[in-house]
Amino acid sequence: MNRRNILIFDSGVGGLSVFKEIVQRLPYENYIYLFDNEAYPYGELAPETLISRTCTLVQQMMQRKTIDIVVIACNTASTIVLPHLRQQIDIPVVGVVPAIKPASLLSKTAVGLIATPATITRQYTHDLIRNFATDKEVKLIGDSRLVEMAEQKLRNESVDLQELEHILSPIKGEVDVAVLGCTHFPLIREEISLVLGKNVELVDSGEAIARRVDSLLEIKHGLSSQGTLEAFSSAPPFEEEALNKALRQLCFTPVQLLPIQDASDH
Ligand code: DGL
Repeated sequence: MNRRNILIFDSGVGGLSVFKEIVQRLPYENYIYLFDNEAYPYGELAPETLISRTCTLVQQMMQRKTIDIVVIACNTASTIVLPHLRQQIDIPVVGVVPAIKPASLLSKTAVGLIATPATITRQYTHDLIRNFATDKEVKLIGDSRLVEMAEQKLRNESVDLQELEHILSPIKGEVDVAVLGCTHFPLIREEISLVLGKNVELVDSGEAIARRVDSLLEIKHGLSSQGTLEAFSSAPPFEEEALNKALRQLCFTPVQLLPIQDASDH
């Protein structure tokens, strides 16, 4: 059996935090990273736009390349798009949703959910809280500036800790566990931890997603050399530098970031 082709999709560099977890677990598969940078930030998009963009781009990529599994490495998209996408394609789709359940199991006091403005308004998120955080209060923060800060950090700009402190002030001192409910946030985990204090545990969904992908693929090829990584984006600017900085941090060799039109099976 050949290496599997895993498509990882996000609005920006956030999905790389999920990619990192998957590639650590499954280093010998082939990866395709697709950025919808044209519509970034997703946290500000209307649900209908997000559903149609995600479904269209994933299907475009599937027409150009053989894909075995799709990972929607974005909470904002996953909390609304998954049923629509699963209806339209016939390969497994794994989504990332806020880790409310593990967080509320860990917490002894209250949980903070840090996400995008869209994610904190989703019915899906409120259902997660109702079903899995029954005995805990969950305090919500939805702010696209945090997403921007993560993107900027990769472009070598420093994170403004005062601004971060201001954004996180509604949960500072109020919670003992905080959910990183956006895949961009593990990229500023250290800064968030500095502001909230080291006693606050930060929880994300990356490792759980990697386990899910692993169990769905049931890999049996026995290869032990690294697979390939290709990266595509929906619009200029094709920010290879930021992408490659992130990849170097993940010990990956730099890649060329190409427009989605250039994708093809070779
Ligand atoms: N990385 C995304 C998420 O997990 C989306 C960030 C954005 O584009 O607003 O929600």
